[in-house]
Amino acid sequence: MGSVLKVLVLAAIVSFIILMALHPPESKKGIELFLYFASCWLILTIVLAFIVTFLMGITLNSVAAAKEFDHGVQRLWTGQSDTKKWAAVPSTIAPDKAFEGFHGQEDAMRTVTDTIVAARQGLQTRPDGPLASFFFLGPTGVGKTELAHRVAAFMQQSLVKFDMGEFVDKHTAFRFTGAPPGYIGSDQPGQLAQAVDKYGPSLVLLFDEITLAHPKIWDVLMGLLDKGTFQDGSTGRWYSVQQKAIIIMTSNAFEDQAEELHRMSEREVRDLLSSNRGWQGVVGQDFPFRKAFVGRIGRIVPFHPLSPAAIRAIIRDRLNTSLAGVKQKSGLILTYGDNVLDRFAATVHDAKYGVREIDCII
Ligand SMILES: Nc1ncnc2c1ncn2[C@@H]1O[C@H](COP(=O)(O)OP(=O)(O)OP(=O)(O)O)[C@@H](O)[C@H]1O
Ligand SMILES: [Mg+2]
Repeated sequence: MGSVLKVLVLAAIVSFIILMALHPPESKKGIELFLYFASCWLILTIVLAFIVTFLMGITLNSVAAAKEFDHGVQRLWTGQSDTKKWAAVPSTIAPDKAFEGFHGQEDAMRTVTDTIVAARQGLQTRPDGPLASFFFLGPTGVGKTELAHRVAAFMQQSLVKFDMGEFVDKHTAFRFTGAPPGYIGSDQPGQLAQAVDKYGPSLVLLFDEITLAHPKIWDVLMGLLDKGTFQDGSTGRWYSVQQKAIIIMTSNAFEDQAEELHRMSEREVRDLLSSNRGWQGVVGQDFPFRKAFVGRIGRIVPFHPLSPAAIRAIIRDRLNTSLAGVKQKSGLILTYGDNVLDRFAATVHDAKYGVREIDCII
């Protein structure tokens, strides 16, 4: 039962008891008395529910309480749980086609596939962690989230994506980790537990924009990265994805140094991620990842800004897709020459906003 429903039921019971304890006016009889009683009950219930919500706002956090109320109303209204924001995408692409049309990130692709293939064949120093874990670092729109989807296709596993920007404060973090008893939302497992409950442990867990998440979440992820296990904060149940799940985190951190990251060793990039100096002004958080967190990530994978060759290849693919759409919907057959490609490529020569910029222009 949702938190809001609980508050309403409680308020209704308390107001009923109060009204029963009071003597009704002598002048009212029959249907008139019933209507009088029902309207007093309704008004008292609403007033009490507001008072309780208000007190929750003071004792917990007014914003979180307001949001919780909002979500509760949505749950009641639509009958759907608002916690199902994460998207699970069962792959429809064949594994041998998984990386088709993915351009300019061959280094990242190779690191990821080599690591997964080796892990699947047992080449692992520690058998009790997840199958593999990665941290994708790079500028916007260059394929970090896309590669995670393609990894899921390659593995023929479901991908569950969490936008970590939705868990920035302590109360929203509880939605992900599960809220401890006494807190709002403690009546259902956290979203991470729900995902494993629903899809089983063989899945690709994508924690998009991980740097935005509340540091409490980083602590939960430490156990996941280390032992492939985590405990749900609401139910207290332990979950294991050992040797099954692939964990991918992404971030735009250090996007201005994207090419430099490729010249650094993985160790130096880890240092950057876990030092105040490297972190300053990089993301919304005031402090860097703990060394213990960064040390538990299997591979740090920097992404390149899109090269001119990659931009050209992507423009060609996008043009072909859109012209195929025109043919299908309008019956018009359109073609283009290399000069068109050159013009497009010149317009987005540095693709500062990644492939999204190419899509906008086309
Ligand atoms: N290297 C690439 N090859 C082909 N398509 C790409 C490539 N990179 C990105 N795209 C396309 O561009 C769009 C955005 O890519 P994606 O979501 O992976 O960006 P991102 O790196 O995760 O950016 P952000 O940091 O802003 O989340 C997707 O539609 C994706 O298909
Ligand atoms: Mg992304």
